[in-house]
Amino acid sequence: MTTATQAPYRNLRVEARGAVTVLTIHRPDVLNALNRETLSEIDVAVKRFVEDAASGALIVTGAGEKSFISGADINELAVLDPRGAEDISRFGQRVVDGLARSPKPVIAAINGYAFGGGCELALACHMRLASENAVLGLPEVSLGIIPGYGGTQRLPRLVGTGRALELMLSGRRVKADEAERIGLVNRVVPREQLLAEAEALAASMLKNGPLAVAAVLEAVERGMQLPLDDGLRLESGLFGILAASHDMHEGLNAFLEKRPAKFERR
Ligand code: COA
Repeated sequence: MTTATQAPYRNLRVEARGAVTVLTIHRPDVLNALNRETLSEIDVAVKRFVEDAASGALIVTGAGEKSFISGADINELAVLDPRGAEDISRFGQRVVDGLARSPKPVIAAINGYAFGGGCELALACHMRLASENAVLGLPEVSLGIIPGYGGTQRLPRLVGTGRALELMLSGRRVKADEAERIGLVNRVVPREQLLAEAEALAASMLKNGPLAVAAVLEAVERGMQLPLDDGLRLESGLFGILAASHDMHEGLNAFLEKRPAKFERR
């Protein structure tokens, strides 16, 4: 079932497809570039998604046939002073961080160009699917700026320092097949199947214990920022907390009793 959820957003479309929320960036005149207003709307939409008990996963995509997000809105960047530049960088970082910190899976469905801030937003999602026509890159240095919405930190963590530096220093744009080969996207799918594949990926997680899913996300997202020993402590702590849940006992007993588990998020 598809229903439009709340809103009025000027630059987003948000719809519920069963237990999956689909957030579409919608600024077709500029290939879905992220201006400050759109970042603010994404911030609100992600908070609503996190609070929405009926929604278990989020898909982020772009409106139209050729662009996911063309980057930060260059019209706004062109008039920034130093204070404004640092401020918009911190704001953009905070907004995409909201995706990374979500306790429910967030999937980028990259349906075309994903440059600059668009690529950085995709990097903050937990997983990335790309259509065959997708092109990704951090071309900021060609504009005399640097990635400012987390790209310098997340790209090396995802694809390794050497590859990340090559891409960020040259500004080279990579097509979907190369993006898949270097681990920048999880996989490439035919364009007309992109949303269906993203929904199927979400469904493969929605059937699992939601508290356990949230714990994996927390262990990985927080753990990747910690030394290994501290990450292992975090993992054990979360393992222990889950043992207090109904869902852990339900999941284990259902296996032993050879029946499907009925998770209740408690
Ligand atoms: N910010 C603001 N406007 C943008 C934009 C951005 N990041 N990306 C594209 N647009 C606008 C273009 O200026 C153009 O506007 P116009 O119709 O008023 O001239 C419109 O979107 C369509 O773009 P166009 O360049 O004509 O489309 P294209 O298919 O030939 O090329 C791109 C698409 C994405 C390759 C090209 O627009 C581009 O390189 N954009 C900038 C990408 C970038 O550097 N992003 C990082 C920013 S930090």
